[in-house]
Amino acid sequence: MDFTAKEFPMADEDFNCLAAMAYDISGIVLGEHKKELVYSRISRRVRKLNLQNFSQYCQYLANNQDAETTGFLNAITTNLTSFFRESHHFEFLAKEIIPGWKKEKKGKPIRIWSSACSTGPEPYSIAITLDKNMPVKDYNLKILATDLDSDVLAKARLGEYPIADIEQLPRNYLSSFLRKNSSDVGQVKDSIRSMVQFNRLNLLGPWPMKNKFDVIFCRNVVIYFNKETQIELFDRLADSLVEGGYLFIGHSETLHGMTEKFISKGRTIYQKVGS
Ligand SMILES: C[S@@+](CC[C@H](N)C(=O)[O-])C[C@H]1O[C@@H](n2cnc3c(N)ncnc32)[C@H](O)[C@@H]1O
Repeated sequence: MDFTAKEFPMADEDFNCLAAMAYDISGIVLGEHKKELVYSRISRRVRKLNLQNFSQYCQYLANNQDAETTGFLNAITTNLTSFFRESHHFEFLAKEIIPGWKKEKKGKPIRIWSSACSTGPEPYSIAITLDKNMPVKDYNLKILATDLDSDVLAKARLGEYPIADIEQLPRNYLSSFLRKNSSDVGQVKDSIRSMVQFNRLNLLGPWPMKNKFDVIFCRNVVIYFNKETQIELFDRLADSLVEGGYLFIGHSETLHGMTEKFISKGRTIYQKVGS
């Protein structure tokens, strides 16, 4: 496709400049096959900023990094998610992890991190699983949910979703954990929302959290990174887990050939082993 003949012309060097920026800041690799996607996502920024072409946008981004980086990153991230996506992770949490916590974790903190939480269904599915399977008020539970994209975090905090997106949940979940705000919008109930703390965090940047986690969800995000970045990230995730802690990754991701710090506990479920 000729991207120089489009509404906002995009030359190869413009695409290369945007791909380099995306990689440097977020680790996201935008290969040639992502040109169409970059064109459609960044056209919105070009239009919004009243620019004429991608070359002007590249220049604008370079000269206004503080102001435009967030808009740029929010535009290039892919945020697809859903409640109880890859449901075997939540079944494992309920059947294999929570029973042990119920016996051993009274009076001790339990920390869970949803590290690329998008618009929130993932951390809310974690909160719902905990609420359904243990007396959450008797335990010191902390769910941290982070993402690079500030737009999705705003949506996540609000916890509102089109009814069509939550209709696939079992009926008793809908009545227990969500309320209808209108005929087409549902909202996660306050009791569940208050279990989750949302913060902006770049997985490639510094992680300010002081304490280690019992479980980390890092799902459907490393697919956007190259192998080198993935190896580094999995290493840091291992260091952020307690001994015996669990890491859940996405359906098309693997730790195979990346790290020796985990053993497999089943499909895309890993447990940290001693060093
Ligand atoms: C496809 S969504 C996955 C959402 C959820 N984990 C799931 O599996 O349903 C990928 C998320 O990763 C986030 N992301 C991409 N690069 C990131 C980075 N460097 N640091 C933190 N989050 C990042 C995106 O903003 C997006 O919300």
